[in-house]
Amino acid sequence: MPDSTSQATKPKTRSQRRETPQKTAHAPTQPIGPEPHTDLLAWRDEFPILQRKTYLNSCSLGPLSRRAMAAMERFEEQWNEHGAQSWYGMWMGELAALRAKVARLIGAQPHEIAIAPSVSGALSEIASGLDLGARNKVVCADMDFPTLAYQWLARERQGVEVAFVESEDRITLPAERFRAQIDKRTGLVATSRVFYLSGYIQDVAKLAKMAHTKGALLLVDDYQATGQIPLDVKAANIDFLVTGTLKWLMGGQGVAFIYVREGLIPKLRPTHTGWWAARDQFQFNTREFAYRDDAQRLEAGTPPMPSITIANAGLDIVLEIGVERIRERTRWLADDLARKAQARGWKLRSPLDGAQRSSIVLVEMERPDELVHQLTQRGIIIDFRPGMIRISPSFYNTVEETDRILSALDELLAQRA
Ligand SMILES: Cc1ncc(COP(=O)(O)O)c(C=O)c1O
Repeated sequence: MPDSTSQATKPKTRSQRRETPQKTAHAPTQPIGPEPHTDLLAWRDEFPILQRKTYLNSCSLGPLSRRAMAAMERFEEQWNEHGAQSWYGMWMGELAALRAKVARLIGAQPHEIAIAPSVSGALSEIASGLDLGARNKVVCADMDFPTLAYQWLARERQGVEVAFVESEDRITLPAERFRAQIDKRTGLVATSRVFYLSGYIQDVAKLAKMAHTKGALLLVDDYQATGQIPLDVKAANIDFLVTGTLKWLMGGQGVAFIYVREGLIPKLRPTHTGWWAARDQFQFNTREFAYRDDAQRLEAGTPPMPSITIANAGLDIVLEIGVERIRERTRWLADDLARKAQARGWKLRSPLDGAQRSSIVLVEMERPDELVHQLTQRGIIIDFRPGMIRISPSFYNTVEETDRILSALDELLAQRA
């Protein structure tokens, strides 16, 4: 878990940022120990894009694996060969396997997992099913991905109030800062484990304790953390968690997940619902509706089987490697990258402390969109957010690749000077 040391510095104004020197003289970096788990580089062959591109953009879209391609081919064969019979013979099994794999990954039980079409959809399910009663205040962080707060802001007309905990430095957010906002009216604390905007890792176990002490629940948006940083939802005492397969799980679009702590399942009665939430789904009883007893009461309609097939392949890879090993390797790569960026005089917009930083490294840059476009022309794929470039190494990346990005940036910035 990260400690709660703040790096609080005042956010810079736009004109101050423009003055930030972008030096190209390289100060020596401190050693960070031997590179861990180089055996994982054997996986590079599994991802054909790595043979053609320098790809460090897992926080946006994980790469396509050979396994996923084979799974897609298998899906087409099943559909073509067996038609609708595939549902009973194969696809229901694929769905159950996927829920079980996610449960294993986060330390949950399969009946506590529901499948949703996106993280936004997953959040809407929870929001439409959770009766906050008189505790109508929801606490979010201003660093969260917007879709999280939108669920509750969209319910303001129904009496929901949203309060934001603010990050002073726009990078970190010590858990303590939530304390003042969680009061007797707070029904839910809803925030992310990893901030997409800085890569900062929140101490969700601490947040759960804080919320529970005041009688509130904790919902975690884990999209930027699942598959890159280990988690046990039981040990952390999390009530709800949403995540998806697009990024660190290398499972493509169209599949997200909801975890609901067992004891809370009966309390959720989503109004956004459908026949997949019904206890007697295959009785087709039009006049009566009862929710399922498990978390699948948060599902609604027919799931996208092509996406489910790909998601299963991505999760298999993550489970096979193990998230602990992934974290050890990506932490080392991110540390190396962060140190080398700092040595160039660039301003990190991610935590300096490697224990607080995930494998999402943001660096302040002017016109980052232009840089990302120029890098793309050189076969280098990274990402940007306003005023920053975003580099997210995964277990299959190498130091040579991160160095290639840094050298390319050196050249592009020198051309600007
Ligand atoms: C932390 C986080 N939550 C939610 C989302 C949105 O997910 P979806 O598009 O599946 O609703 C993103 C997208 O990048 C994200 O980074």
